Amino acid sequence: MIYLDNSATTKTDADVVKVMADVMTNVYGNPSSLHGLGVKAERLIEQARKIMAQELGVSPQEIIFTSGGTEANNMAIKGVADAYQQRGMHIITTEIEHPSVYDVYKQLEQRGWRVTILPVDHVGRVRPEMVEQALTEETVLVSIMHVNNEIGTVQPIAEIGRRLKNYPKVLFHVDAVQSFAKYPIQPEQWGIDLLSVSGHKFHGPKGIGCLYMRRNLMLTPLLAGGGQEQGLRSGTQNVPGIVGLAKATVLAGKQREAFLDRCQAWKEWLIERITTEIGEVRVNGDVTRDGGAPYILSFSFPGLKAEVIVHALEQEQVVVSSKSACSSKKELPSRVLKAIGLGDEAAIGSIRISMGFMTTEEEVRRSADALLKVIPSLQQVIKVRKR
Ligand SMILES: Cc1ncc(COP(=O)(O)O)c(C=O)c1O
Repeated sequence: MIYLDNSATTKTDADVVKVMADVMTNVYGNPSSLHGLGVKAERLIEQARKIMAQELGVSPQEIIFTSGGTEANNMAIKGVADAYQQRGMHIITTEIEHPSVYDVYKQLEQRGWRVTILPVDHVGRVRPEMVEQALTEETVLVSIMHVNNEIGTVQPIAEIGRRLKNYPKVLFHVDAVQSFAKYPIQPEQWGIDLLSVSGHKFHGPKGIGCLYMRRNLMLTPLLAGGGQEQGLRSGTQNVPGIVGLAKATVLAGKQREAFLDRCQAWKEWLIERITTEIGEVRVNGDVTRDGGAPYILSFSFPGLKAEVIVHALEQEQVVVSSKSACSSKKELPSRVLKAIGLGDEAAIGSIRISMGFMTTEEEVRRSADALLKVIPSLQQVIKVRKR
């Protein structure tokens, strides 16, 4: 099987599994316990915290472990909104955020917050000057993702952060779930106050992630309880998950440059091959090296249904996705694809191909062959039906 759904999740690296199994077997103490096994577990957490902090160039106290990206996003947005509501009740985001940001904004809107949802251009990029223009005296938070999970567009985060530095009362949250470990990220230099990370997008375990939160910020915790993670995230820590997250981060750091280079070459080759050999196709997102993550490709085949393409490709042993995994079971056309101007027909016929550290050239070539077999024959069926 050729697995090209790495933006939904990745296969856990064997070395990550190994360290996690070791922790589960040997260091099963509760990190809050005072005895030796507890202390050992706590040490492992602190080592992992250092690794996560180092990756971001921040201090370990600024890392809070969570159950993943969804929790980190909820925690950042709801936590900041609650803690800073005296300053004002206006928050800003974009049309192409993951539901764990977008739907949180919608929830807050129902609770009386004024919400600005910024549009994006035809490749899915938000204009930094529009972010600045949307600020009011009441604005407390701007949340913008780094790499989009459906089309791979890279947002100008450093440029937005640079502008927001002129408004010290406005906090800047970045959902970096699809970019962390694949791109070097520098929250301090980029003017980021809060940043979400998830382990399972880069060959780490599922159910673990972290939130970077700049020191001296206020945040109302989502969970009340034992006061772990500096009182910001109660609940016994997922020690094997945390150790696995740190291991995956270290492994990613060693290979990301080569990974980005080879994905870029494969992306260009795939686009060239598919667009020259299939007439009715649209490539979504930004295909330039700096503007689009090379590991995410989105194609639209108007007239076809993404589910049908996904199942036909699976028959050829190639696994891809219709939209993002989180919304692919819903019938509605993707909000993200509609935001970049696709009509219903093109949006419904869109698939995502996403590569991971384990993807090989041979797999990319075979997946192109499978697409070139499956798509024209499905298009032929539609043409015959229409006659
Ligand atoms: C951009 C983005 N943010 C957040 C999430 C949620 O992360 P998790 O699955 O760790 O909750 C995802 C997962 O699909 C994502 O792609």
